[in-house]
Amino acid sequence: MKIDILTLFPELFDLLRAYGVIGRALESGILTLKTHQIRDYAKDRHKSVDDTVFGGAAGMLMKPDVLYDALDAVRTPASHVVFLSPQGSVLNQDKARALAQYDHLVLLCGHYEGIDARITNYYVDEEISIGDYVLTGGELPAMVLVDTVVRWVDDVLGNPESAASDSHANLLLQYDEYTKPRNFRGHEVPDVLLNGNHQAIAAWRNENALYNTKRKRPDLYERYLRESGDEGGIDGLH
Ligand SMILES: C[S@@+](CC[C@H](N)C(=O)[O-])C[C@H]1O[C@@H](n2cnc3c(N)ncnc32)[C@H](O)[C@@H]1O
Repeated sequence: MKIDILTLFPELFDLLRAYGVIGRALESGILTLKTHQIRDYAKDRHKSVDDTVFGGAAGMLMKPDVLYDALDAVRTPASHVVFLSPQGSVLNQDKARALAQYDHLVLLCGHYEGIDARITNYYVDEEISIGDYVLTGGELPAMVLVDTVVRWVDDVLGNPESAASDSHANLLLQYDEYTKPRNFRGHEVPDVLLNGNHQAIAAWRNENALYNTKRKRPDLYERYLRESGDEGGIDGLH
């Protein structure tokens, strides 16, 4: 997979390059990540990338001619162009998995008051938000998006099953997981996980995932009951 990122702060993405799973995906060549300085496409000698808002408003808006040329330099007809925006649909696991199917993603990071609406309306394929709050720029959202999307690209995770059993891979949160020691300050690992009976372990995990979801995210649990066809769910909170 190839990801091109258009940003005013390319250096911020060094963090992503140095980072565990993403770093390894880059090293192995499964992932190519390039950042592009939007300012390089500025038209004047001051390298301006923003201007005042027609009709009046606080702050400055990123200019459409500069953004268009930056986009045009990296996209191809097969690219999928995403504008990171608080107005987009909120990123979730299904969306991350869907985005991982594209061979080429172009991520556009806004800044200041945002970007000229003609770019949003005519030259991006979709707007994606990382949550219903406003950040100062699209760089952190782009990093969040890259991190979660790349986990779904073939061969990126050492164990491909780990993404499939994570929270949100289906409608539930994950079951509790434990490591050594078996007894931590008097808190024991559940016996069922120690006996090697895979059927019993699977049944316990299934029930525990339901319990976790009901307790921590009742909204998701209600959705699970509606959409899964599981009429019983789980009784009480034990
Ligand atoms: C201060 S925000 C602009 C907000 C814009 N005036 C609005 O109300 O929709 C500057 C930039 O940060 C990014 N951004 C802010 N919040 C975001 C979010 N929740 N998800 C994704 N990107 C976000 C976008 O790229 C946006 O253009």
